[in-house]
Amino acid sequence: MLNFTRKKTVYLKDLFEGDHVDIHSHLLPGIDDGAKTIEDTNSLVDNFLELGIRHIITSPHIIQGVWPNNSDIIRNKEGEVRPVVIEKVSSFRAAAEYLMDESFRKLVREKDILCLKDHYVLVEMSYINPPLSLFDILFDLQVAGYTPVLAHPERYLFYHDNFDMYAKLKKAGCLLQLNLLSLSTYYGKGVNKTALRLLREGMFDFVGTDAHNSRHIAYLKQKFKLESTEIAQLKTLIKNNKTVFAP
Ligand SMILES: [Fe+2]
Repeated sequence: MLNFTRKKTVYLKDLFEGDHVDIHSHLLPGIDDGAKTIEDTNSLVDNFLELGIRHIITSPHIIQGVWPNNSDIIRNKEGEVRPVVIEKVSSFRAAAEYLMDESFRKLVREKDILCLKDHYVLVEMSYINPPLSLFDILFDLQVAGYTPVLAHPERYLFYHDNFDMYAKLKKAGCLLQLNLLSLSTYYGKGVNKTALRLLREGMFDFVGTDAHNSRHIAYLKQKFKLESTEIAQLKTLIKNNKTVFAP
């Protein structure tokens, strides 16, 4: 069968137009698997600027037993880093990327949550399986006044053959954030295929770089081959980031 959907070459830099708002990255040094030193942070921020990212909401992991961060640790680290990077970017602040587990539920009950902005909370799941009480967690979170933004839904392989789950998540009030690297085969062909399908079907709400290191940056700077419908959807998401998260 002939394929009439011709792919175009795009660069994120061209789509970001110099004032993109990134809502997912690991730039605070030494507290998760992202930047290790302030030099790493500086270099990542310089690269963000080259890409046209001018507003940064960085999101260190909070995963008990792995990256046992808390609001104080993140705020203190943000305080250390801010003076260094605020000279360059238009805005810089820290939130978190929360693993949805029982410790997270406790933080929600205590309202000890670092939001991306307003009531938006960046959450993730294990790549092995979703939490048993996933929909209870999402429900409790919203009852407490928060809006969940699920990071990289396309990376959860257990949903690839169960596509209805994405609609179920959206119906349960969960917004979806595409990792921009999933627009390539960086995380594998299955992730790429799922990401593009979700994108074409208009399932995503926001985008994020999820940048941890210079390798991620190198891939973010590469060209992406996308269909016109995918590019159009991507532009909408980039605009959403700006509308909802710009300071
Ligand atoms: Fe992340």
